[in-house]
Amino acid sequence: MRDAGIGVFDSGIGGLTVFKALRAALPPGERLLYLGDTARVPYGTKSAETVVRYALEGSRFLGRRGIKALVIACNTMSAVALEELRKDTEIPVVGVIGPGAEAACRATGRRVIGVIGTAATIKSGAYTRAIARHLPQARVVDRACPLFVPLAEEGWVDNEVARATAALYLQDFKSEGIDTLVLGCTHYPLLEGVIGEAVGPGVVLVDSARATASVVRARLLERGLLAEGPAPAGEDHFFVTDSSDRFREVGSRFLGGPLLRLEQVDIQD
Ligand code: DGL
Repeated sequence: MRDAGIGVFDSGIGGLTVFKALRAALPPGERLLYLGDTARVPYGTKSAETVVRYALEGSRFLGRRGIKALVIACNTMSAVALEELRKDTEIPVVGVIGPGAEAACRATGRRVIGVIGTAATIKSGAYTRAIARHLPQARVVDRACPLFVPLAEEGWVDNEVARATAALYLQDFKSEGIDTLVLGCTHYPLLEGVIGEAVGPGVVLVDSARATASVVRARLLERGLLAEGPAPAGEDHFFVTDSSDRFREVGSRFLGGPLLRLEQVDIQD
């Protein structure tokens, strides 16, 4: 089991932020199998029922490849489908909400925490509940910022459109007195610069990707599942459900190297 791969599942390309954090946190001997449901992205605008159905299909697809753990890189799936995914498999399933919420609770001094995410993530209230579990005295101010996803996909992360969008979405956070802001969506770390400018220098931005990667490492270590020894180069495998051209281009730019094993697949049973 120690030699089995780790599944990383996202609705599309944004989960590569989590992939990158996992690569940095895990030993080189770990093999990652990434699935991006690029044919059906975005999940964040869909109903919880639909997201759960898609999540189970993707998780079973990766499960058939004999993985030892599953990382749900997508905040939307983590917010609405984590319980169903855990019930559906024996292997550990780690989402991004718990680790992100915990990191925010550690970072806040004033105990006023902002959370931004997709419409489905914010509607679910998952971050607010997770923060309340760790720090019941905290006040959470949340807001859906759906336009950040297409901006990040387009690479418009540092121009006047991105800046104006961030200013409009985030103007109320300043008067609410937050000192910590959770970037509760895979794509938002790409807009960290303009988001930081909009909320001002006194606010700590929490990226769930890094927090999740250290939880995955700890979980594998405690179960004796952390891989040892170096991995042969090019072992990571990327699966997508739509044409792989755009994923190859954006993904290699994002990860700083070619995606050697990239395959378009049909994830239905
Ligand atoms: N991966 C999604 C998330 O983190 C963003 C993209 C989508 O809406 O599918 O919530």
